[in-house]
Amino acid sequence: MRIHPLVVAALGVCVIASMPAKPDAQRPAAPLAPPAAEPAQVAYGRYLAVLGDCEACHDRAGGQTYAGGYPLNTPFGVIYSTNITPDRETGIGTWTADDFWNAMHRGVRKDGAKLYPAFPYPYFTHATRAESDALYAYLRTVAPVSYHPPANKLPFPLNIRFLVTFWNALNFKEDRAPTTGPTPGAHIARGLGHCGGCHSPKTFLGADKAGHEFEGGVLDNWFAPALNADVRRGLGAWSTADVVEYLKTGRNARANGSGPMADAISHSTSHMTDADLTSIAAFLKAQPSHAAVPATPPPDARVMAAGQAIYVDECAACHAMDGKAAPRYFPPLPGAAMTQSVDPTSVIRFILTGTQTVATDARPTPLSMPAYAWKLNDAQVAAVATYVRNSWGNAAPVVTASDVAKLRHKVAAKPIRKPSARI
Ligand code: HEC
Ligand code: HEC
Ligand code: HEC
Repeated sequence: MRIHPLVVAALGVCVIASMPAKPDAQRPAAPLAPPAAEPAQVAYGRYLAVLGDCEACHDRAGGQTYAGGYPLNTPFGVIYSTNITPDRETGIGTWTADDFWNAMHRGVRKDGAKLYPAFPYPYFTHATRAESDALYAYLRTVAPVSYHPPANKLPFPLNIRFLVTFWNALNFKEDRAPTTGPTPGAHIARGLGHCGGCHSPKTFLGADKAGHEFEGGVLDNWFAPALNADVRRGLGAWSTADVVEYLKTGRNARANGSGPMADAISHSTSHMTDADLTSIAAFLKAQPSHAAVPATPPPDARVMAAGQAIYVDECAACHAMDGKAAPRYFPPLPGAAMTQSVDPTSVIRFILTGTQTVATDARPTPLSMPAYAWKLNDAQVAAVATYVRNSWGNAAPVVTASDVAKLRHKVAAKPIRKPSARI
């Protein structure tokens, strides 16, 4: 059977673009506090909900926990998360543990309809039946909330759930024998943690590119860097302790977390146990990189000189003349993986829109990088981006004014978090 490629592509884009784009200051930073005594299975399920970051998508600003209605933006429309509280009318109160397993494991709703892959079932399929049952047991204990999320705003034909059947046939592989091994880290990163949802490159259908797991991916105009052994662009130069500190506190001596990662840190990784974080770190650092790295000829000397002049005026106050900045406050740029990623989306975005480092229990003070969209033109942003990507031992492809113009157009259409932040 032939399906119009645009339809399949559009459905696919839902997966990449639908991850929550920004931290939401109104939402609670910590998951629901456990009551004094609860059955072991429920406590286990509560922790699994942290691993799966269920709250990040199923809480909306000002809404009650797990009541859904959080809008996931895709270029084709908006998909709202559903109410997963045990309310019988509007939530999953009438679902059995089997129904829940079908959703987690196969992406199928109680009524048999297909769920959109904006719900990360392509990763959750790796969770075991015991884990699904524990999550189910935990979700039975949360307060039922009567709330209907708004209807999805998807144009015809994307509003036809049946089409997901084709997407699944091409892209989804049910894990027929999920186990908890080989290590907790591998199981979490590939399964409930759905790290690849953002950090793995996608095909034009929006599915993970086979053989390129964790090599870095673009979502909603952010680039999530490689999580592998690559020394320049991945975690090769990070120690296991560096990775653990970043996931636990939102910062380390090498980088700060913001944007979509801020949500993952505040709801999920900062509440994981040290043992799980250490296992995730060891697993990711051992992942081989197969990404083809283009040759990076040294950039034009005039562009570097222009970039340096802008850097001295605008950036050195925080990042220092030698780029070394003040680790754990303002991240150092020499050796930084995201700065040197082949795909410059995040670097350009940081400069255009600014960004805010996630606040966690361990590091409660948020830090900001200001937006320069109002101050620097496309050629200037390109020059300073090229400069930081190719100074102090860094090496990465040049950024062009047209790269900047394209991203400026895309992000200007969206609300900018701190449009007026100044140095
Ligand atoms: C990246 C965002 C995201 C994350 C993370 C996420 N969900 Fe969802 N979930 C969604 C969206 C969006 C839908 C609705 C999909 C649709 O309408 O086809 C959904 C639907 C569901 C459904 C189907 C409910 C129904 O009434 O149809 C269940 C069950 C569910 N999620 C449970 C969970 C659990 C449990 C977790 C954590 C382990 C979780 N989700 C994490 C986005 C997410
Ligand atoms: C919703 C999308 C999303 C998910 C899910 C996600 N990440 Fe990220 N991650 C990002 C983005 C975007 C960045 C870059 C953020 C920045 O630099 O401020 C990032 C940055 C990171 C970094 C820092 C990399 C560097 O070189 O600076 C690490 C480490 C990381 N993520 C690990 C993880 C792990 C482990 C998981 C799964 C448990 C995960 N991420 C899940 C989007 C995501
Ligand atoms: C007011 C202080 C401040 C100024 C000025 C500033 N930055 Fe930043 N910068 C930050 C902070 C804070 C972060 C960490 C953001 C996060 O949480 O990811 C950051 C992160 C970055 C990163 C990402 C590093 C990585 O790989 O993770 C780059 C690249 C960057 N800045 C470049 C610039 C450039 C270029 C300028 C000047 C045009 C500039 N910054 C000006 C504070 C600043």
